[in-house]
Amino acid sequence: MVPVVLTSKLAEHVDQSVTLRGWLYNKRSSGKLHFLELRDGFGVVQCVMSKRDVGEEIFARAHELTQESSLAVTGKVSAHPKREGVFEIHVEDWQLIALTSDAYPISPKEHGTEFLMDHRHLWLRSKRQHAIIRIRHAIIRAVRDFFDDRDFTLVDAPVFTPNACEGTSNLFETDYHGQPAFLTQSGQLYMEAAAAAFGRAYCFGPTFRAEKSKTRRHLSEFWMVEPEIAFANLDEVMDLAEAFTCSIVEQVLATRRPELEILERDIAKLEAIRAPFPRISYTEAVDIIREERAKLAKDSEAPELSWGGDFGAEDETLLSQRFEKPVLVHRYPAAVKAFYMKRDPNDDRLALGVDLIAPEGYGEVIGGGERESDLTVLDAAIAAHELPPEAFGWYRDLRRFGTFPHGGFGLGIERMVAWTCGLPHVRETIPFPRMLNRLHP
Ligand code: 4AD
Ligand code: MG
Repeated sequence: MVPVVLTSKLAEHVDQSVTLRGWLYNKRSSGKLHFLELRDGFGVVQCVMSKRDVGEEIFARAHELTQESSLAVTGKVSAHPKREGVFEIHVEDWQLIALTSDAYPISPKEHGTEFLMDHRHLWLRSKRQHAIIRIRHAIIRAVRDFFDDRDFTLVDAPVFTPNACEGTSNLFETDYHGQPAFLTQSGQLYMEAAAAAFGRAYCFGPTFRAEKSKTRRHLSEFWMVEPEIAFANLDEVMDLAEAFTCSIVEQVLATRRPELEILERDIAKLEAIRAPFPRISYTEAVDIIREERAKLAKDSEAPELSWGGDFGAEDETLLSQRFEKPVLVHRYPAAVKAFYMKRDPNDDRLALGVDLIAPEGYGEVIGGGERESDLTVLDAAIAAHELPPEAFGWYRDLRRFGTFPHGGFGLGIERMVAWTCGLPHVRETIPFPRMLNRLHP
């Protein structure tokens, strides 16, 4: 019996006959030869069919084959004489599974992004998209491995929540059996409860932001991993974020090189991602951004970046140009950060928060810090942010019953994928993106 194999396992079958099942990715033909590129989800392999080997009838049937028809091919595996890991099939026989009679919408010619996004369910079959999603999987696996290997307990956070976590302006509100509920913006508040129960905890799931923003870094629905550690201070949170980032990049380099090559990613840039990362304060970052802005626009009238505001995407890009590694920016003005951040005991204007800004202009990938553990200060922050105190009763309990210093962070998977893959926009980093103007397919 001829074994049915995957294109990823051809190395184990050199000089043997095998059967592959998949879809026709591309076809070139001459009078005597068909070159069929067969795609099976694991890779693409060239199948060479010669009229002399298979005979008139089998050869002639292949003329009708159209792009993305499904088929089974049987033939002998040969290793490419020069390119390691590349194989070819010398076709002995083939069967049609289903002919695609309509013209496949995605042809090898160039298509606009909106068109491709409308056909996302088919676009996922193409080589680049395939490579991106495989890298995304490797990143998610690295994320889980990292925390699972360090005694973190996985504690899933709910998606329906009564509380806002990251400001009230970007909440998706739903009707929860007659009462309002929000799609979660972050599992953090629940991870704080989990940290008191398990010491080290993390959650990983979809999170939602309703801001009407169309930037290349924003999705309405994105996946976030959020570790939280009991008794950790800001420095320890930064240590964790640094080790975590290095570990993800390392694992992707170890397992997804062919995919990075398909994307033409500059691998040397990823190999440079090694600890330690520079750590600078918000105030130092403001100085750097001002210098960079001044270099750019000598005679421009653009207003100077003022101390106290949050950084825009452009500012993060300017900052990242100074470093080959991610930079950890800590101690932001409390006024631009969330209510739960602990104040800096040395300067009341500052919050003990940290953002990890990726190099090459990929922007903020991680946000986190130390949490306010004093109930009186927390109550004042809830009031100052005009949050409904009744929704936070359970969260206040964490300060009433054995309050403890703690901290953690959130990493947005899609921004991590964008940076790792070298993609300018997050829309291709998630299988089915949800954006301001996109709910389909
Ligand atoms: O900085 P953010 O808003 O922080 C939090 O949600 C904290 N509660 C996390 C924590 O401390 N546990 O979001 C964290 C990360 C960002 O750095 C970014 O990578 C990603 O989540 N992110 C988004 N990704 C895609 N689209 C959006 N709209 C995003 N908003 C945040
Ligand atoms: Mg943030």
